[in-house]
Amino acid sequence: MKKLRVLVLLHPDLMPPNSLRGYTKKESHVWKTEYDVISTLRANGHEVRPLGVQDELNTICKEIEDWSPDIVFNLLEQFHGEAAYDQNVASYLELLRIPYTGCNPRGLILSRGKDLAKKIVHYHQIPVPSFHVFPARRKIMPKSWFEYPMIVKSLSEDASLGIAQASVVDSDKKLVERVEFIHNHIGTAAIAEKYIDGRELYLGILGNDSLRLLPIWELEFGDLERSGSRIATEKVKHDPDYQDRHEILQGPAEDLTSELETRIKRYAKVVYRELELDGYARIDFRLGTDGTPYFLEANPNPEIARIEEFATAAEYSGIEYSELLNRILKLGLERRH
Ligand SMILES: Nc1ncnc2c1ncn2[C@@H]1O[C@H](COP(=O)(O)OP(=O)(O)O)[C@@H](O)[C@H]1O
Ligand SMILES: [Mg+2]
Repeated sequence: MKKLRVLVLLHPDLMPPNSLRGYTKKESHVWKTEYDVISTLRANGHEVRPLGVQDELNTICKEIEDWSPDIVFNLLEQFHGEAAYDQNVASYLELLRIPYTGCNPRGLILSRGKDLAKKIVHYHQIPVPSFHVFPARRKIMPKSWFEYPMIVKSLSEDASLGIAQASVVDSDKKLVERVEFIHNHIGTAAIAEKYIDGRELYLGILGNDSLRLLPIWELEFGDLERSGSRIATEKVKHDPDYQDRHEILQGPAEDLTSELETRIKRYAKVVYRELELDGYARIDFRLGTDGTPYFLEANPNPEIARIEEFATAAEYSGIEYSELLNRILKLGLERRH
């Protein structure tokens, strides 16, 4: 691939050091994605400038004018501390007419709310867990159709923010308590969904027009299988010590019938198209004990650290990390046309 000038946008708190030397696994866990992306792009021969951005549009504009990068590698997941502003950053880059990696603004909007994406996907006959939304500052009234257990989450935050074992509730009383917790501590509307007991499957996709599907990947919950609900809580996702202690593992999903595999892949492609995603994304499913794959959520611009699900699934299918990042750059450049 041609050598490019790449401007990497990231949160200033996640500006990685030049070397991993002297950092523990826990310390480097925080900025591992930024470290992996920047060091690998450099190793690929690109000229790379990281730019920390919190709430300044001018610095982005100035850097683009002064340096004229070929492309922006977009690792920003928030602006002004708001996750929901991610699409505005992508929109701003479009207004500046600079190519950028990852998903377009419309895909980011359609997949954000945990209710909207499910409504769109359900229209295309893909199973989704039944759900109800509890807006903030409104009386919390459980519905008569609720079937417990249910899981209560923030409607709009991701990265499992606010998700713990206590999120799975088995009565109206506990549901109300957890919805209040989301309203008061996370500060967003809450969604209560039917809890799908079963396996957790992820499908990574790369592409704008033609799509490359990565192998179906599974998050395995180790000894949590015995002691609690099998869910990806904040700790399961972000605490390496906890992951080691409970033997949380990820790897290729085994023992799926070819029929089921085909079905999940077909669903994932429909989701990708209907939510208007491009670049790269990870589509998450829960495989119920009855064998039904339920759509959980679409993650445009998913975590792409070397050790996380997307990159390990790519590696497993023969796309090495350095090649993966080059492909992501190419997809960003191609979208221009
Ligand atoms: N309806 C559900 N049934 C079973 N588990 C669920 C359900 N919804 C969420 N979970 C669990 O909680 C995790 C986080 O939920 P998700 O909707 O993906 O939110 P986030 O955007 O924070 O990742 C999932 O990966 C899954 O383990
Ligand atoms: Mg998720």
